[in-house]
Amino acid sequence: MSKSHSSPVAAVRPAPGWRPDSWTGRPASQQPTYPDGRALEHALAQLRALPPLVTSWEILALKQQIAEAAAGRRFLLQGGDCAENFADCRSDIIADRLKVLLQMSLVLVHGLQLPVVRVGRFAGQYAKPRSTDTEVRDGVVLPSYRGDLVNDVAFDAASRTPDPARMVEGHARSALTINFVRALIDGGFADLHHPEYWDLSWVRHSPLEAEYHRLVESIGRSVRFMETLVGESIGSLNRAEFYTSHEALLLHYEQALTREVPRQWGWFNLGTHFPWIGMRTADLDGAHVEYMRGIRNPVAVKIGPSTGADALLRLLDVLDPDDEPGRLTLIHRMGAAHIESRLPPLLRAVRGTGRGLLWSCDPMHGNTETLGNGVKTRRFDNIRKELESAFDLHGEAGTRLGGVHLELTGDNVTECMGGARDLSETDLARAYRSSVDPRLNYEQALELAMLIVRKRGA
Ligand code: PEP
Ligand code: CO
Repeated sequence: MSKSHSSPVAAVRPAPGWRPDSWTGRPASQQPTYPDGRALEHALAQLRALPPLVTSWEILALKQQIAEAAAGRRFLLQGGDCAENFADCRSDIIADRLKVLLQMSLVLVHGLQLPVVRVGRFAGQYAKPRSTDTEVRDGVVLPSYRGDLVNDVAFDAASRTPDPARMVEGHARSALTINFVRALIDGGFADLHHPEYWDLSWVRHSPLEAEYHRLVESIGRSVRFMETLVGESIGSLNRAEFYTSHEALLLHYEQALTREVPRQWGWFNLGTHFPWIGMRTADLDGAHVEYMRGIRNPVAVKIGPSTGADALLRLLDVLDPDDEPGRLTLIHRMGAAHIESRLPPLLRAVRGTGRGLLWSCDPMHGNTETLGNGVKTRRFDNIRKELESAFDLHGEAGTRLGGVHLELTGDNVTECMGGARDLSETDLARAYRSSVDPRLNYEQALELAMLIVRKRGA
């Protein structure tokens, strides 16, 4: 890399010609059609007046950490549900998801000997891109379900009609979620002295439990040793930081939470720390790219097997013209079958620019398949294969894989096949709960963390 990114995050400059609403002049895909314009205006006015969910200084702290991950001094762990839903805004679900992410991060910290940047797909992951605008069942045509932020999954006309009041509800549920996460962390839930708090009550005799508990004991010994050495307790071990992220899909919602703040120039999306552009909305001339180019948050873009090198470089110039440290993360999601042919040209092209962005791998979304009975699943073997290839291909290209992006849950689900218990097609029927994409369960998630350590820590 030709540039050094060791300096602290530098302020850059406002994006020329950008306004929080300049996206409205571009084609906006994946947006619902609200039947009642006045109800939409009313909901947006409410949202604009409500307090934000995160602060600009948290956002800038995360940007700094992402810059460090890009430079190889941290590792990014980003994970959570494919889509949150309003009904799952419950203490047990939120705490269990946090536990899995904490356990994974502990495995990564210990194995990689690097601090981990922890980012949840939560507190706002309520809007979903769909492949068609409408869904047909038995001859009945209704709008597709676009996530709880837009409409209800039940297949009747009232439920499927996009309702702007859901954006106000989504903001409230996001606030409840982030409030609980903050309270847990402030209360010592993420205290490294007590990793036993993170054990999930339903996990018994997991094939991975013994390995995990050996690791916890070894960390416990190191913590006690360090504290004996320095003669006091080490404050930073008392709490793990968590940041939030979601796909910035529903642009009216994102715009309403885009704010100016005292003593900072420019605009921040204060609805989440780390928004990303999904693969279906990463069009260079589209509304999503226009919206994202002007906010000061760190942003990520999903790239897939159809992304070409030239188009990607133009996208980087638009989203990160100054190559600002921590500003941009590229999340590749090629699929195990395509990564070896599709990723290397992109790695070479970006490397040639000397840019210091962060590379992350989403081994989930390129490996989704539909079984004969219509059930969506992912094979753990393909997920593992894609992740292993990603490390190898970055190594060969002279770039660095500095993060992973996963769909997982602390719920005891059977949605992905394979893994430590080798879940089969018949197991899927037992506990399949996702209304969208299949998620890794606890054991599969922990197994992936151990695999990352074996590949990257070696
Ligand atoms: C997602 O992250 O849930 C998603 C829809 O991903 P992608 O944009 O990569 O398809
Ligand atoms: Co998904």
